[in-house]
Amino acid sequence: MSRKARRTGGKQQVVSITSIGARGDGLANDEATGQPIFVPFSLPGEVMSVKILQAKAAGSEAQPLELIEASPQRADPTCPHFGLCGGCQLQHWQSDAYTAWKQDRLRACLERAGFSEPNLRPLVQAPERSRRRASLSAEKSRSGALSLGFRARASSQLVDIQSCDILRPRLFDSLPALRLFAHAILAPGGSAKFQICETESGVDLQVLTARGSDAKDMLAVSELVDACDLARLVWNDEPVLTRREPVLRLGEGSATAQVSVPPGAFLQASADIQNAMAAALLEAIGAPIDLAIDLYSGLGSFSLPLLAKARRVHAVEGDDPVLDALENAVKRSQLADRVTIERRDLEAWPLQGKELSRCQALVFDPPRAGAKTQAPQIAAARVPLVVAVSCNPATLQRDLLAFAQAGYRLDWAQGFDQFLWSAHVEAMAVLRLEDAPAA
Ligand SMILES: C[S@@+](CC[C@H](N)C(=O)[O-])C[C@H]1O[C@@H](n2cnc3c(N)ncnc32)[C@H](O)[C@@H]1O
Repeated sequence: MSRKARRTGGKQQVVSITSIGARGDGLANDEATGQPIFVPFSLPGEVMSVKILQAKAAGSEAQPLELIEASPQRADPTCPHFGLCGGCQLQHWQSDAYTAWKQDRLRACLERAGFSEPNLRPLVQAPERSRRRASLSAEKSRSGALSLGFRARASSQLVDIQSCDILRPRLFDSLPALRLFAHAILAPGGSAKFQICETESGVDLQVLTARGSDAKDMLAVSELVDACDLARLVWNDEPVLTRREPVLRLGEGSATAQVSVPPGAFLQASADIQNAMAAALLEAIGAPIDLAIDLYSGLGSFSLPLLAKARRVHAVEGDDPVLDALENAVKRSQLADRVTIERRDLEAWPLQGKELSRCQALVFDPPRAGAKTQAPQIAAARVPLVVAVSCNPATLQRDLLAFAQAGYRLDWAQGFDQFLWSAHVEAMAVLRLEDAPAA
């Protein structure tokens, strides 16, 4: 936001920001209603003139108009699109204060789950420009102008990006060619989504549009593939061109497997954070064990590193293409006697009792909705060491409650900041039964 934004009319008021909320907005108290006012791009202690946009049951959305008193913690954002682009919400906050806020959110989640004074390790931050996957939008106006970038915050408006502090350089450098490609394939008024993912064999692109590809698109496809040295281009669900199989190498030494990445599969957003989380998981396990279970395993970013500590790993996942990719990789690497794979919907049909209690350590990394039915089963089975990984403090708190109630102690927890300058908090919590020895 510029310090003196344009006044656009409507209900205006001056507010004092008291804190930052879960979505990264500043919170002010609406004295008339007692409800919060959400003010994007503001900081605690600031006084602002705002325009109230929309009153909802949970509070009012506001647009900042003028910064009357700035926080001493305010920093100059480095990205010229900050304040408009919806990719980052907190680049205007000094690093120490921003980090402390993420730590406080995690601490509050652990305390509310029943673990008072948690042993919280320092936040691990992803390096700048380390995001290896992103979803970009492209639009061609009726007059033929092309925009490519991210959506503005809470809006359908597209911000055409010329600079980005989060994307890996290889992804960012592919944007000019992607722009030309979008220009060639879109009719005036048309739009597309581009899911880009940097794998170890090159960039994988999935184009999502209302229409399928046809022969007329092939020249644009081959120009894009050459310009960006793409590994693969998938149009909706159809692989249009595969130059090299997009792959990830996971695991260590003789227990390494090369996993093919299916289009649109989940990958941790930053390889640095994936590696840091795998290292923290191995540290939590400590001495070698016989069997580890990896629930919501995805492509095996924990299952394969776990072979450094566990003689056998049982990976469970619900997505067919992802599981097929892991199964094929394990077979190709002659690891099938050490990694067993199970296809299962863990929400509808959670692992229970002896299926769980046979292992010495278990990691679960569910989607944002958490492991509502699975987590209480793990706690009830009294698995001695449980490592919970989560991208959502609200569902992590709910899931951890079952462990606190079953007598687990929280050994330590750590935050992993893989969505820099956003309100997201990725976390790992290491839980042990009171009578189980620490690593
Ligand atoms: C946050 S990702 C974690 C993946 C993996 N641990 C990693 O680090 O790459 C969550 C995974 O859970 C899977 N999943 C989502 N809902 C599921 C369900 N009900 N049952 C089993 N797996 C599910 C998704 O397909 C996805 O691979």
